[in-house]
Amino acid sequence: MLSAKDFIASLEARERARTGISSLKVSYNRVFGYFILVTKANLKNVPDDYMRKQTLVNGERFITKELQEWESKVLTADDRRRALEKELFDGLMGDLKAHVPRLLALSSRVAAIDVSAALAFAAKRHGWVRPAINTSGVLHVVDGRHPVVEAMNSDVPFVPNDVRLDPEGNRLMIITGPNMAGKSTVMRQTALHIIMAQLGSFVPAAAAELPVTDRLFTRVGASDNIARGASTFMVEMNETAAILRNATRQSLVILDEVGRGTSTFDGLSIAWSVGEYLHDVVQCKTMFATHYHELIELGNIKPHAANYHVAAREYGDEVVFLRKLVEGGTSHSFGIQVARMAGLPEHVVARARDILSSLEKEEHLIPRRAPEKARCTPQLDLFNAQKPSEVERILKDIDINRITPLEAMALLTRLKDLL
Ligand SMILES: Nc1ncnc2c1ncn2[C@@H]1O[C@H](COP(=O)(O)OP(=O)(O)OP(=O)(O)O)[C@@H](O)[C@H]1O
Ligand SMILES: [Mg+2]
Repeated sequence: MLSAKDFIASLEARERARTGISSLKVSYNRVFGYFILVTKANLKNVPDDYMRKQTLVNGERFITKELQEWESKVLTADDRRRALEKELFDGLMGDLKAHVPRLLALSSRVAAIDVSAALAFAAKRHGWVRPAINTSGVLHVVDGRHPVVEAMNSDVPFVPNDVRLDPEGNRLMIITGPNMAGKSTVMRQTALHIIMAQLGSFVPAAAAELPVTDRLFTRVGASDNIARGASTFMVEMNETAAILRNATRQSLVILDEVGRGTSTFDGLSIAWSVGEYLHDVVQCKTMFATHYHELIELGNIKPHAANYHVAAREYGDEVVFLRKLVEGGTSHSFGIQVARMAGLPEHVVARARDILSSLEKEEHLIPRRAPEKARCTPQLDLFNAQKPSEVERILKDIDINRITPLEAMALLTRLKDLL
């Protein structure tokens, strides 16, 4: 059978020759089907066997017997094709029906092989190791990497990090460090190690000892859900609440800057009490990244908590990120430097610096570095951190019954000088 294109071309050529109308066209549209188009000027040459179908502004559309037959052949051919296809498809389905359970079982096995083969391939290619799985709860990763960050930024070498969490030792890690340092990355990579190990994969590390983990909880990123009636902070608190209610000693909890969605004091207070609850009550393994440097104190006073920070160095105006997770807290944020690197206008950056330095001078603010205290000493004065002044101390020490009028005068002068 001729293709539609060939048929139209041959009919057009034949009709042009027969009628002598060189502008004659055979065409098709969805509404009218096939037709022959003749312009107004040539209407006098139209043969008798042409049947008028439609009149246009500058011409008329005709149909011929041959074109009608062709059209019905094409339309029925399409219907016949569909019917045949459906018949064949139904037949195939009918044949397959009996084998459905076997086919499903087969495809699930093929899928499992596919996943295992892909993970094995990735493990070999990227140098992953087989984790040793334990039930003691100890998580110890040596030179761990984040498989995705490592693959995405192949031009900068990924800095591997060690992570150790132990229910009987340090189970709460407070992680401080500048913006962009790598806090979120090291926490997420640890969560990924757990997931990968539990699905049977090797993990991106030099060595890994990983605990059987019942659930993994994360509170990361700030997004709201206004469509479902929850603000950014509400979402953050909903998720935190779910973690506190459901985590067990066998869980791993990742908290990324919990509390930042509200005012500093409210946020810090919530962050502190959440960390404390996880440490004291839930006793799960927790990694808690924060810009509240006051939380370093929590790491100091809790027996199963430890402080870490991701190191960075400042050279003049520039910050160099070392990406290394090291022991101890840090109160450096380099927030303004990072904002400058991100392209905030120079004027805004300079103004932010001014504001920061005047804020730092104001003593009634929470100290940027919490006072070092011996472990286990409850840190009660954290939130009203104002220490008694020298004047107050002297006043307190005066014994009114013993002081002479002359001494009182001298003391008054000294107090005035101190003020
Ligand atoms: N170990 C690493 N090696 C190489 N690059 C890293 C490493 N860790 C992080 N990075 C790079 O640094 C970027 C910032 O890291 P990340 O988001 O973890 O910082 P952060 O400390 O959480 O910052 P913020 O306080 O602003 O949330 C990552 O997107 C990644 O490109
Ligand atoms: Mg982060």
